[in-house]
Amino acid sequence: MLEVRDLHLQYGGIQAVKGISFDVRCGELVALIGANGAGKTSTLKALARMLPQATGRVTLNPPGEAAIDLMRLPAHELIAAGVALVPEGRGVFARQTVLENLKLGAFRVKDRRLVHERLENLLERLPRLKERATQLAGTLSGGEQQMLAIARALMSAPRLLLLDEPSMGLAPIMVDRIFELITNARDSGVSILLVEQNARLALKVSKRAYVLESGRITLSGDSAELLQDDRVRAAYLGEAVNASISS
Ligand SMILES: Nc1ncnc2c1ncn2[C@@H]1O[C@H](COP(=O)(O)OP(=O)(O)O)[C@@H](O)[C@H]1O
Ligand SMILES: [Mg+2]
Repeated sequence: MLEVRDLHLQYGGIQAVKGISFDVRCGELVALIGANGAGKTSTLKALARMLPQATGRVTLNPPGEAAIDLMRLPAHELIAAGVALVPEGRGVFARQTVLENLKLGAFRVKDRRLVHERLENLLERLPRLKERATQLAGTLSGGEQQMLAIARALMSAPRLLLLDEPSMGLAPIMVDRIFELITNARDSGVSILLVEQNARLALKVSKRAYVLESGRITLSGDSAELLQDDRVRAAYLGEAVNASISS
C-alpha cells in the first residue's frame, strides 16, 4: 500500500531523516519505533506532505488502481488519495463539538447519507464519544480526545492511516480502548503506520516493525521477533539483557 524509498529530511542544517526505506502492505499494521528525537514525527509529516523539503520516493499503491506519487501530490489532495494523519498531540478542534469534529473528518464527502452512516457506525462503537456528542472537544479528557482524533480520521474512510504516538500521556485503561479502535480499523482493512515511543505496546499490536535511530532504520522485522531481540529489549523495552551487575 505504501512504499517509501530513500526518504531524507532536513531542517536548516539538521538532517532529521537520513535516507530511510520501508513498506506498509495492504491491511497491515506496521510500527515505527524509536526514542525521542529519532525522527518519527518528521517521517510522518513528510509522508503527509507537511514538509515540502523532504526528498525521496513515496508511493501509494492501492490495489487495482494506478500508483500515486505522494511526493508530487499537493497536501490538500492527500485525504482524497486515501491517506489520513492523526498528529502527535491529537489536533482536535477544541471549540467545536465532538459531532462537529467528526463531521469535519468527512468534509470531502458530498453524500450526506454516507457521512451519516459512517457517523452512526463509529458512534455505535464508541459510546464514550456518543454520550459526549454535543460537548466541546476541548472539555474531553486526553484519552477521549485521542479517540476523537482517530475517529475523525476514520470518517474519511482512509486506506492508509498514519498515527503519531496515540498512547502518549494516557492512562493504561484509555490506551487499551485506543488500541482496540486501532486494531478494529486494521481488521476492517485499513493499512496503518503506527509511530510509538511505547515500543512494547507497538510491537505487540503490529505485524512488522522498523526501529528508527537518529534518522536511520537500524533494525526491522516481524514484531514478534523484535520483541525477543536482545538489542530491542535492552534499548527499548527497559529490560536488562545479559547485564553483569557489579557491586
Ligand atoms: N521544526 C523543526 N526544526 C528544526 N529541527 C526539528 C524540527 N522538528 C524536529 N526537529 C529535529 O529533528 C529531529 C527529529 O525530531 P522528531 O521527528 O520530532 O523526532 P521524534 O518524533 O522521533 O521524537 C530532532 O533532532 C528534532 O530536534
Ligand atoms: Mg514525535
